[in-house]
Amino acid sequence: MTTTIENLSRPPAARPERDQWIHVAPLEELCRRQVMVVRGADRPIAVYAHGPEDAPQVSAVDNRCPHMGFPLHRGTVQNGILTCHWHHARFDLCSGCTFDLFADDVPVYDVETRDGEVYVAAHPRQTDPGERLRRRLREGMEQNISLIQAKSIIGLLKAGVDYREIVRQVALFGLKNSRLVTALPGAQTGSINETNPTVGANLDE
Ligand code: FES
Repeated sequence: MTTTIENLSRPPAARPERDQWIHVAPLEELCRRQVMVVRGADRPIAVYAHGPEDAPQVSAVDNRCPHMGFPLHRGTVQNGILTCHWHHARFDLCSGCTFDLFADDVPVYDVETRDGEVYVAAHPRQTDPGERLRRRLREGMEQNISLIQAKSIIGLLKAGVDYREIVRQVALFGLKNSRLVTALPGAQTGSINETNPTVGANLDE
């Protein structure tokens, strides 16, 4: 069976170079096994064949659950939704978006089939990690979930974001929500506010 399966949601310009694809298996074998794990550039990737038998769809995600790292290939897939078997977070296999806010979106990988062989990109689909993690930090604070807050801050620091920017985001969130961060310079005098976020400047002193 020669089937071309591509994720069409990504702009063509973002396609990985040909040498950045990893061979997975013949499509027929992947369909039979439903999920296979391959070694990506820096993490294991779970590659799934799902959907109707006569028109299978191939999707690939980071094999580590973004909640607490459970191997996702040990979860179950139904109607394109992957459920982790530890705390039952659910993810849309095509986009990686989670349905359960205590988890996070799972990174997705481009896939393609050439001459009946399935390939997966070595690196996850390009996104702006800083933007995603800032949104995630805000959600973690809104829901008061310390695990999300901690993972977002660690991710932002790993992505090279200046710690003062993170402190500023946290301080402004506290001010907006009447949770004054009294330990921060300027919080008690009112010199920090949405239009005058001087936290970073104060920390330079
Ligand atoms: S580790 Fe997957 S839901 Fe918790």
